[in-house]
Amino acid sequence: METERNPNADTSSRRTAAGGFCVSLLHLGDLAHLAAFYERLTPAVTEHFVPDGFTGPDRLADHLASATDGDAISYGLTSRDGHISGHAFVEPLWDGPPVLGIGLEEHLIGCGLGAELMRAALADCDALALPVVTLTVVKTNLRARSLYLGFGFVARGEATFRRPGDSLYMERRLGGRDGSA
Ligand SMILES: CC(C)(COP(=O)(O)OP(=O)(O)OC[C@H]1O[C@@H](n2cnc3c(N)ncnc32)[C@H](O)[C@@H]1OP(=O)(O)O)[C@@H](O)C(=O)NCCC(=O)NCCS
Repeated sequence: METERNPNADTSSRRTAAGGFCVSLLHLGDLAHLAAFYERLTPAVTEHFVPDGFTGPDRLADHLASATDGDAISYGLTSRDGHISGHAFVEPLWDGPPVLGIGLEEHLIGCGLGAELMRAALADCDALALPVVTLTVVKTNLRARSLYLGFGFVARGEATFRRPGDSLYMERRLGGRDGSA
């Protein structure tokens, strides 16, 4: 697995993942590929992933600009031509509780690639000494819940995604597990 080094967090490098993918830091120049990734997502993925309003071009450009400026973390599961098949992000980093989001294209679910994206994003969070990273997950999304538990996230209460109380709010404290155990 190859991971591109995040200069802001000063952690890692570029890693090659299974299937010839890389885990790569995303920048503003990745906007077209990232927008195309979100446009391709199928209902099986979007029923669980993508906060309302995150995928418009302006919002994605803001996110990638923040990542470029060190105000957000953004990793893509990329192929050599820049094509993006998965995305993990954490934002905001400094102006409120950091929120992690992650999603893969449907055909890649169940291959263990989500863990590779998580590992890269959380390594940067730890390198930046973020005291806590938060997320919400739909209660019925057992695969994602299992992934998060493996990285040291702990459920702290209920949250709302599509319907009131359909989700859990989870937190991971600084230095939590890295998903390898
Ligand atoms: C959630 C997601 C990122 C996980 O990545 P992934 O590579 O598919 O995850 P994996 O297949 O490695 O599974 C993660 C863990 O869940 C476990 N798992 C899989 N199905 C499960 C189920 N039905 N019940 C419980 N655990 C399950 C796996 O065994 C694995 O555990 P392990 O690491 O101890 O072996 C990916 O499936 C995805 O993008 N899903 C659609 C979008 C989404 O749900 N995003 C998250 C929104 S909160």
